[in-house]
Amino acid sequence: MSRPIIIAHRGASGSYPENTLLAFQKALEAGAKWFELDTQLVDGELVVFHDDDLERTTNGRGLLRNTPLAELRLLDAGRGEKIPLLHEVLSLAAGRAKVNIELKGLGTGEATAALLDGLFTQKKFMPADILASSLLLSELNIFRQLMPQVKRAAIYEELPSELATELYRLDCWSVHLHKSLITDGVIKMAAQQGSKVFAWTVNEEIEFTRLVGLGVMGVFTDYPERFLMRGR
Ligand code: G3P
Ligand code: MG
Repeated sequence: MSRPIIIAHRGASGSYPENTLLAFQKALEAGAKWFELDTQLVDGELVVFHDDDLERTTNGRGLLRNTPLAELRLLDAGRGEKIPLLHEVLSLAAGRAKVNIELKGLGTGEATAALLDGLFTQKKFMPADILASSLLLSELNIFRQLMPQVKRAAIYEELPSELATELYRLDCWSVHLHKSLITDGVIKMAAQQGSKVFAWTVNEEIEFTRLVGLGVMGVFTDYPERFLMRGR
């Protein structure tokens, strides 16, 4: 059984407030070599946040996209943490962890490419240490045009009928599938297109063992400390 990549999903989000600098710091302390985060565009700035709404993870109300950035930055995202900016999380990760940036929402492909371009030019981050992913194949395509040197991944909640064609067209390094979709056949099909299969979100030992046995090469988990001994 090969050792999969262990990706701290929204940081060490099972134990700390998701998508906060605290959760990413704790993932590093646990030994995580990979983070996953969600990014959205607000007032022209990339923030690290998962939901459309503020209620579940902050003391704010309403839609993220309708809230001015200055107000967002005053909210408590848990344990007194702020909603971080993407460049803040990348600064924390630089030289310590690779980052899977999930592009959530229109405009994120272009804005993320612009931010990364600056960081790469300043040698603050290496292209090899970024993986861009999205459920929005249009954003992934825009990102690909602007940053062809950065690895990409398509995310699926349901399997499309034309999975092989989509992976071929997008030239994806990996495909990120909900764990319920993963079969031996899907892994073989992805491999034929040159894509590794990563599973989300895996928090239990029994499912980790099943998925890695099938050939999954990356695992998103809210509890990186549970699996790092058996991954990398
Ligand atoms: O990228 C894997 C996973 O994060 C996708 O789902 O909803 O947790 O962003 P979600
Ligand atoms: Mg995500």
